[in-house]
Amino acid sequence: MSPAVRPDAHPAPVETERLLLPRLAHAHTGDLAKIYEDVAVARFIGGPHLTSDATRAQINTFEAIWHRRGYGQSAVIEKSTGQMIGRVGLHDWPAWDAVELGYVIRADRQGQGFAREASRAWIDWAEHELDSDALIAVIQPENLASIRLATQLGFQHGRPDVTPKGVHVQIYRRELESRRRHGPGSRDDTSG
Ligand SMILES: CC(C)(COP(=O)(O)OP(=O)(O)OC[C@H]1O[C@@H](n2cnc3c(N)ncnc32)[C@H](O)[C@@H]1OP(=O)(O)O)[C@@H](O)C(=O)NCCC(=O)NCCS
Repeated sequence: MSPAVRPDAHPAPVETERLLLPRLAHAHTGDLAKIYEDVAVARFIGGPHLTSDATRAQINTFEAIWHRRGYGQSAVIEKSTGQMIGRVGLHDWPAWDAVELGYVIRADRQGQGFAREASRAWIDWAEHELDSDALIAVIQPENLASIRLATQLGFQHGRPDVTPKGVHVQIYRRELESRRRHGPGSRDDTSG
């Protein structure tokens, strides 16, 4: 059973300095499918299997997680243009009883710190609201951009594993420090 959010949890992050982070929903299917059309973007996250039908199905899965868990993937909307430039957020891995931080940024917006900015908002939320000791990042060993980002975000290299679809990955792990400091069921600001 994957971790749930605390019963009195604050809402998931909705924006950062440069980004809006609305809940990823069916309305984003077309934009997300276009982002996945770029082979360089899709290479490590499903490649040619990421058709528009598959994108729609994936968004269904993400929406179900939002509904069940109270967290999920956000669309990443650039405030300066109003355009959708990716998705970032949390995802359940029932096989490993863990919650993953996942991120995808449109090719022409990569390298500008957008994935890091949105990821930090989600990590900050998870630190306080997620009933779990850690987040994981599930990364193929050749995905250097993702490894670099995960490392910057405080993930540490972990064990090799194979996903249920048979993909060889490395499981990176980031402890949720706030929960470790204050113990299960506590939040920084509730003691006083
Ligand atoms: C991984 C990904 C989300 C990073 O997004 P991004 O917005 O470009 O990342 P940021 O700009 O926030 O960069 C974070 C760090 O990663 C580094 N980085 C970004 N792309 C890189 C690349 N191709 N190779 C090496 N490092 C890279 C950045 O330089 C930065 O480090 P720095 O501050 O030391 O320079 C993006 O490359 C992507 O969408 N990839 C395709 C989808 C994917 O594989 N997702 C991950 C699945 S596990």
